[in-house]
Amino acid sequence: MKSILIKSAEEIKHMRIAGKLAAEVLNMIKKYIINNISTEELDQICHNYIIQKQKSISACLGYNGYPKSICTSVNDVVCHGIPDAKQKLKSGDIINIDISIINNGYYSDTSKMFILGKPSILGQRLCNVAQKSLYLALQIIKPGIPINKIGQTIESYVNKENFSVVKEYCGHGIGKNFHEDPQILHYINNDQNIILKPGMIFTVEPMINAGKPLVKCMKDGWTVKTKDRSLSAQYEHTILVTKNGCEILTFRQEENIKKILIN
Ligand code: MF3
Ligand code: CO
Ligand code: CO
Repeated sequence: MKSILIKSAEEIKHMRIAGKLAAEVLNMIKKYIINNISTEELDQICHNYIIQKQKSISACLGYNGYPKSICTSVNDVVCHGIPDAKQKLKSGDIINIDISIINNGYYSDTSKMFILGKPSILGQRLCNVAQKSLYLALQIIKPGIPINKIGQTIESYVNKENFSVVKEYCGHGIGKNFHEDPQILHYINNDQNIILKPGMIFTVEPMINAGKPLVKCMKDGWTVKTKDRSLSAQYEHTILVTKNGCEILTFRQEENIKKILIN
């Protein structure tokens, strides 16, 4: 691992602002997630809000050629689902909306699941487990611990619930760049003995499958689905390592966890 940036007080100030804005987009979009709306319409609403209300820009639009402003990953889509006018939401669907914005040169990245209409028991449980796996990881983060304790915490819990963790995609450092060191693996591993330090900022974003962990990228070059077509769920936060725990920079008021965790 090369260069893990420790953010200055000034940079942290900017990252708090960027984080709050990304969280606000998830709050804003909630009321639009209804039967028959297309993922393209959700994209347009978020895009306009980010540009006009937030005076910010989407970090996704144009990123390695990505064509839209948000990712909308429905049911068996694991991540990077491309909003599409032909894709209309229906009761029972589970959808991850992933918001990445740039404000004043600083990035933030957060996602959550929404369930339409009447949730299936499996869909609801999968979303709950994905969110709890993120929260369990956030509750062990503090200076001095090895970074691989994050993946250990997530995968041991998820396996106990009889779901599986996607291995191909990971969390990432974030700041003046979308994706920086370190990589945050969400599964049990030994290859990372990096020790967390105050001032590190990174995402934790476990992708959890109801079936097998394997994934497959579609021909559009972006959309990633479960290979066995089982449901998949993801939650993501951008966090700051503090002197005694962590601070959730993309915290939403509705959440059942504290914004500032003393661990
Ligand atoms: N938001 C994703 C992440 O969590 C990255 C999406 S890149 C895009 O890292 F191009 F697909 F938008
Ligand atoms: Co991310
Ligand atoms: Co993201």
